[in-house]
Order: sequence, then C-alpha cells, then structure tokens
Amino acid sequence: MSGPAESSRRQFLRMLVGAAFAGPFVAGCSVTGGDQGILGRKVPGQTGLMVLGASVPESFTVPLALPSMLRPVRTVGSTDHYELTVRPALQEIVSGVETPIWGYNGEFPGPLIESQRGRRVVVHTRNELPAPVSTHLHGGRTPAADDGYPTDLLLPARGWEHGHEHSGAISHGERDYTYPLDQRAALLWYHDHRMDFTGPQVWRGLAGMHLHRDDEEAALGLPTGEYELPLMVTDRSFGRDGRFLYPSRDPELVSPPGVLPDFANGVLGDVLLVNGVPAPFHPVSRGVYRLRIVNASNARHYRFELVPGPPGREPFLLIGSDGGLLAAPVELRSFALAPSERADVLVDFSSFSPGENVVLRNRYGDEHCSDVLLFRVGSEWGPSYSAPAVLSHVERLDESQAVRTRTFHFARRNQHDGALWPIGGHLFDPDHIAAAPALGDTEIWQLSSDLRHPFHIHHVPFQVLDNPGVDKYGWKDTLALGLRGSARVIIRFDGYRGKYTFHCHTYEHEDMGMMANYAIT
Ligand code: C2O
Ligand code: CU
Repeated sequence: MSGPAESSRRQFLRMLVGAAFAGPFVAGCSVTGGDQGILGRKVPGQTGLMVLGASVPESFTVPLALPSMLRPVRTVGSTDHYELTVRPALQEIVSGVETPIWGYNGEFPGPLIESQRGRRVVVHTRNELPAPVSTHLHGGRTPAADDGYPTDLLLPARGWEHGHEHSGAISHGERDYTYPLDQRAALLWYHDHRMDFTGPQVWRGLAGMHLHRDDEEAALGLPTGEYELPLMVTDRSFGRDGRFLYPSRDPELVSPPGVLPDFANGVLGDVLLVNGVPAPFHPVSRGVYRLRIVNASNARHYRFELVPGPPGREPFLLIGSDGGLLAAPVELRSFALAPSERADVLVDFSSFSPGENVVLRNRYGDEHCSDVLLFRVGSEWGPSYSAPAVLSHVERLDESQAVRTRTFHFARRNQHDGALWPIGGHLFDPDHIAAAPALGDTEIWQLSSDLRHPFHIHHVPFQVLDNPGVDKYGWKDTLALGLRGSARVIIRFDGYRGKYTFHCHTYEHEDMGMMANYAIT
C-alpha cells in the first residue's frame, strides 16, 4: 500500500469526510484532494470512481417506496395539464438523517406521470432552485422546443445573476413543456439536462419516471396496480451529515463545470437506492409481477439477477426495453442495464414458499453495491399470467433502407487536470451540427468507444445491427458501448424537424463535452 506520509494524509482526508466510515480501505483506493476531501475507490468492471461515503446503511431494513402519482390539474379536450415545481427539500433517505435534495415537487424520485397515447401532456414547470434547469423527457418523441435542450434554460424564479455562456431559448421562472406522446407505450423518464451541470443536478435528485401506455399494451392484460412496480435504480454516497457527496469542481454549480480530476471517468455512489430508498425490501404475494426498471445512475452499470432463482426455469421474462414491448418475450437468467436503459420484466413468485426471501442482486456490484431489492414472499396467492408468444408488432429496419452510414468515435482526451470527452474529436458545441438527415431518412451509425460509453440519441429510437444478443431487445434509445467496443445501429429520422442531441449517458462525460447535435431537416 503506502508509506506513513500517504496514510496520514489519507487519515486526514478521511476525517474530513466523516469519522463514521466503516468500510475497509483496500489496495487500489484512490485519494482525492480538493477542499471537499472526497475519497474515491475503483470498482472492477465500471468506468468511473466510487465516492466513499461516511456510512453505508444496512440492506433490506427499510420498505420500498413508490413514487407519488402526479394528477392532472385540468384536462382540456385531449390534453392533460400537469404542474411541477422544482425545488430544494429535505428527504429522509438514510434512516434518521435528513438529506438535502433537489426534487421535482421536492421529491426524489420525482412524481410518476402516467400518459396515454392519443392524449397530449403539458407540464407547467416552475423553478424554485438556486440554479437553472432544463427538463428532458428521455425516450419521448418531442418537438425540439420542448425537448429540454441543454441551453434552453429555465432560470430560477428568484432570478439568476450569473451569466450563461451559451444561450438557447431562455425562460424565467416558469414554462410549459408540451409532449405530443404520439409513440409506443414505454417506460420513459424525465431528468435534468442543464448545460455542463447535468451530473450534479441529477445526483441531487432531479429524475422521475413516466409510464406511457397504449392500446396494444392494454390488450395484453399484463399485471397491473400493485403488481406493476416502477423501479428507479440509482447510486449515491452520503456524508456524515446525510448530505449527498458529489465531487463537483464548483459545488455552487456556477463555474467551472465538471468533477475533480480523479472522478473524470464518472461518479459512482456506494449506496444503491431503489426509488430513493437504500436497498429496500418489498412484500410480494405468490403471483406474477411486472417490474419496470430504469437505471437512472450517473455512471454505474448493473447486471440484475434473482437469488435464489425459481426452480427449473429462468427468473426473468423480458417483455420490453427502452422503446417499449418486444416482438416476443425472452427468458433470461440476468440482464444488464447501462445508465438510462430500461427493462420491462415479469417475475413469477408463485414457485417460492411463503416466508422465502428473494433478492434482486446486482452482479456488477462489490460488497457495497450488490444488494438491490429484497422480495419477501407472503403466503397469499397473486395473479398468474402467461405471456403470449407474440407481444407486439415490431417493425424491423433493414440495412437496405439506409441512405448513408456515419461514424462516431467516443473517446477520452486527457488534459492536465482531468479529461475532456469528445465525440469524433469534437467537444459539444451547441452551434455545430454533426449530422443533418432529411425527415424520413434511414441511416446506419457506426459507433466505437475507448471506455464504457452508453450511447443515447434523443427523439428517434434505433435498432442494433450485427449483434444477435442485443438485437432481440427491440427498439432502443441507449446502447452500452463497452471497453474498445463497437456497434452499428440503424435509425430512421422520423418525428419532428429540428435540432436534437445525441450523447454519452455517463453524465460526467456528457458534462465535459461528450454530446453532439443532429438536425432533422
Ligand atoms: Cu437521458 Cu439526453 O438524456
Ligand atoms: Cu461516456
């Protein structure tokens, strides 16, 4: 390990973080300076560094919470109007401690919105935070003006005396976001997308789920009500006082953007939260549940498994992914989710015995982060469900439809104090258009990466070519590019004309340049 000087420095920094830290210091532990005294540790299999918090709460001691439902404040014709206020709040996340958060309606995760294809949603949003926001509906097919473009800032209602280097369409205090939602049923989610500061702002709590429904899905008669669980999985680290620890260069989130150099590859937490609750438990009956899972973490990747699995068969029946229902269900032993990916899975608890504990585990975790959610199987029976062989009509895009191929490489560029993250050598510039397909064009994008980069494109879903393993996941809006990875995706640029972004969904990369524009012309 290290000499006495190093260990006393470490000791000192550790005291700054909080004396209550109980975890072992292991070889490979990296100590980060800065007056915030935030410590980090490498995690095998992840791109990024884990912030070591003051303490990790014991798993499975607190019940799962479900997000509150946002109800329309009024309905006019086929439009449902909602109101959201983005504001600071205190939330008891770790028992007995109040954590200051930034939340939609002061909640983390934000309230759940449920929408129906054929009905428009308008969300009147008011910003009572001390910082600008821009709300993006991830997975939504939304006209550009309402897509939460990074420089289309909604400034604080109380005013903002700092400038903004790049300005898009600026709103003061309040604005409407209008979503036509003429798209397939899917688990969408909304989160902050403020230029340069998305990572810290989402970490403070700015993310929520949005369940979009349609008739095709309704016809399947899938488990519903208490048998359908929206689950937002995130990781966070906590200081001794209960605060979220995040290694921002500027904790005031004004300037400069980015994180302390050691964390440039991404920020991981050492506590897993489901719907804002650390490794919770949830009582289930012996029936079929539909889990709607989104990985809303800044940088952490997961592989979910069920321990123990049901006897004699695979535990998960995957029925949908980012872009909604698959053509046919797929039985899986485990499945991986990169940041922003979603899975729609059925789990049948009927073959477990009453009193059994069944754990949703993260196989990519270490001792801190493998417990996700414990299901306590009760003695009552729940509904059964057998999925049909055909779930949905999924149109296959064919290579022969593509009018051109574009190439994008996602790779780190070192600089003296950390890293920048260009795409194809270009850092994000709101005025530069990297691709300008005509409305209706189909293109093949050839993607490659140095480290793990979850490629995400706004507005248009894609399908994955060449990789039969991923192919079965249907319509995607995010694809995990692995270490020295490559993939080809096929995209049809339909929807609305305008300028949209594509980017790496590791927020620490996105905030430091790994984003670009395309325009549908
Ligand atoms: Cu969740 Cu621009 O993305
Ligand atoms: Cu990246």
